[in-house]
This record gives sequence, C-alpha cells and structure tokens, in this order.
Amino acid sequence: MNTKNFTPFERRVWLASPLMHGEELQYMKEAYETNWMSTVGQNINEIEKTIAEKIGVKYAVGLSTGTAALHMAMKLAGIKPGDKVFCSDLTFDATVNPVVYEGGVPVFIDTEYDTWNMDPVALEKAFELYPEVRVIVVAHLYGTPGKIDEIKRIAAEHDAIVIEDAAESLGSTYKGIQTGSFGNIGCISFNGNKIITGSAGGMLLTDSYHEMCKVRKWSTQARDDAPWYQHEELGYNYRISNVIAGVVRGQLPHLEEHIAMKTAIYNRYKEGFKGLPVSMNPWDEVNSVPNHWLSCLIIDPDAMCPQARDDHKAVYRPEYGKSCPTELFEVLDRANALGRPIWKPMHAQPIYRMNGFVNRDGWARGLSDAYITGGLVGKDGKPADIGYDIFARGFCLPTDVNMTVEEQEKVIEIIRNCFE
Ligand SMILES: Cc1ncc(COP(=O)(O)O)c(C=O)c1O
Repeated sequence: MNTKNFTPFERRVWLASPLMHGEELQYMKEAYETNWMSTVGQNINEIEKTIAEKIGVKYAVGLSTGTAALHMAMKLAGIKPGDKVFCSDLTFDATVNPVVYEGGVPVFIDTEYDTWNMDPVALEKAFELYPEVRVIVVAHLYGTPGKIDEIKRIAAEHDAIVIEDAAESLGSTYKGIQTGSFGNIGCISFNGNKIITGSAGGMLLTDSYHEMCKVRKWSTQARDDAPWYQHEELGYNYRISNVIAGVVRGQLPHLEEHIAMKTAIYNRYKEGFKGLPVSMNPWDEVNSVPNHWLSCLIIDPDAMCPQARDDHKAVYRPEYGKSCPTELFEVLDRANALGRPIWKPMHAQPIYRMNGFVNRDGWARGLSDAYITGGLVGKDGKPADIGYDIFARGFCLPTDVNMTVEEQEKVIEIIRNCFE
C-alpha cells in the first residue's frame, strides 16, 4: 500500500521512448538532397542489407510497419478464409489482427511461466484438438525469446509453418542465433517505442527469393512488368519510405548500445526490488539473451491486494504490505511516470472472446471466462489460464533509455513504498 506522497518528476518518465543519435538526421537529409523522397532509395537498400546480415537471413524487405510485415507474412502463408491459425495469446493485437485481415480465425495458445511466451505443451494439445492447422504465429514477449526449439519441433511434426513476430525482440538471441531468423517467415518493427526506431517501419525476413519478390511486389500495389499499370493480383501500399529508412539507418549502429542500456535498467530493477514479494520477467538464462526491451515485474500471489478490472476500468483495495498493478500504475502516474499493465491476453479481448483458447490441459472453449479464471486451476494446481494470471499480477515498468539512474532509483523507491 502506498503510504507516501512523492514529489512528481519534473519531466515525464516514459515507458520506452526513442533515443536519437544524430546520424538519423544525416541520412534523412541525404534522402532530401538527392531527392529520393520516395519508397525507393539508398537508405532502404542499406537497411535491408544490414538487417539481413545482422539477423542471418537471406532477404529483408522494408515495409511501412511491423503490422504490414505480419500481413504480408499471412499472405505468404496462404491463409484462406475460415482457416484456423494458432497464435500467441499474451501479446499485442498486431500479432494476430493480420490473420483476420486474410479471413483466418486465430486460436489462442496459452502462455508458460518460464519466458511468458507460447506454451509448447498447450501447442501440442491444440494440434490434438485441431489437427488441420498449418500456421503458427509466435511472438517473443517484451524481447524475451520463447521456447523456440520445442515450438519448431512441434511445427515440423505437424507440417506447419511458423511466422515469427520478433517486433519486440530485435537483437535478442536464442542459442546464439538472432530472433527473427527461426520462423519460416520473420517480422520486425521500427515503431517509435521499439529498441531502435524509424518513427515507424517494419521488415519481413525470409530465406526465399520467391517470397522476397512476392512481398516487394504486393507491397508496391502489385504492379506487373508492363509499361502501363497492369495488375493481376491485389496490391498494397506497404513499402517503407526512404526518409523513414534513413532514421532506421542512423539507429542501426546503436542497437547493441540500446540493448546494453535496457539490460542495465533491468538489472537495476532486479537489484532494487530485492526483498519485495515480486520477481522480474523471466527468461531462459541457459539458451537466450534477451534485448530487455521492457522490464516487467510480477507480484507474488499472496502479496496481491484485491483488484478488479472490467473492460475499461480497474479498482483496488489498499492493504498494508501488499499491492497490485492498478496501484503501481496509479501511483507512478501521479509521480509523472508511465508504467503499464501487461498486454491483456487476446482470448480475453472483446473482439476475440468467441475464438478458441487452448491451455496445457487442452482446455478449449469459444467463450472467454477470463473474469473467473483467477479461481480456476489446471490439473497441476496452477492457474488454468496462465496468460491471464500474468496479466492480473504483472506490470511493465518504465524502461526508457532516456531515463536517468536517479529517475530509475526514484521509480524503485515509489514501487517499494507500495509494498509498505
Ligand atoms: C508484438 C508486436 N507485434 C507487432 C507489432 C506491430 O508493429 P508496428 O507498430 O510496427 O505495426 C508490435 C508493436 O507495435 C508488437 O509489439
């Protein structure tokens, strides 16, 4: 329970804001001065080459957003109206909406506690229930690689392809290999809140020359090779701008530096919360190195004060020695700092409430009962709906690379105070 009033930060402490270095301006200016103010130009060529090399794929196609990249991935996967597609559940809706753009029907796979990503056990169960599924869309939450080997093995056993949403995990590795290269198709984002940004932008990653050509064509209105505008296929205006690509080009040399800053933020929180009934978002410390895009905490179940959420509001009852994400959000906001609840699971979203959801017991249903899942347990005695449990108890901390050490120390103090 919060017992003190803190003087608010003079400037807003953000969750994750851009950090510019100067080179971005130089490349944007170059686009301007050479008049390549378009969706072709040197900046695009350079970032496609650099990212493909960095991630270890043959081709990277620059697109207007990560969502556009995911949409192109769904088209490459050949999703047809009515096709069921297995999707990560604890993620941003941009991971799954592109499935629906193509008429597909997301079936959500529950989350595991080890990395807060898709649970391979639940995925196996899902194939028992829906053996016809041929596409899996998997995200790496907050920059933490999921259980890639298990998911790839299950996909191979069922002849399914994996679309890897690495929007949040650029620069993270699993067994020394970059995320974005594990799926049959990979997608990344340069949204303003990401580890490096173009202010917007995204990329589709593939080893297939044919797929690269398809995406370049579809994303530029699907023009055929003819002197006039000739179209055999449906096209999209999804190509990245050479100006935006200039920003990305200027940011790219700073990726490792940003990762180091995010890692330092994570470690300071971990140290600062010692003795509190919370843990930080976990990762597979043997096999993976996350980029720590967002630092999060999760409150021990018995240190949660009562909290209730409906579709738009949340309330809580303060208790000594306990807290909840709603209190943390409100107290930080009053101090002029921005934290956020964990992504609300997709199966609990009004738009996807009628979709399938599969947990490790194979528990599948069309109607979300998210509001009573707190009380429902699986065969192993743990919450039946792990994604919802993480949403209920978890919280994204300010992880801004522009935040000073002093500001972070104050954030830590404010949070510690909530558990007084
Ligand atoms: C997991 C995830 N997938 C997809 C996206 C979509 O990327 P964009 O905003 O570039 O469309 C985002 C972020 O915005 C994301 O966090």
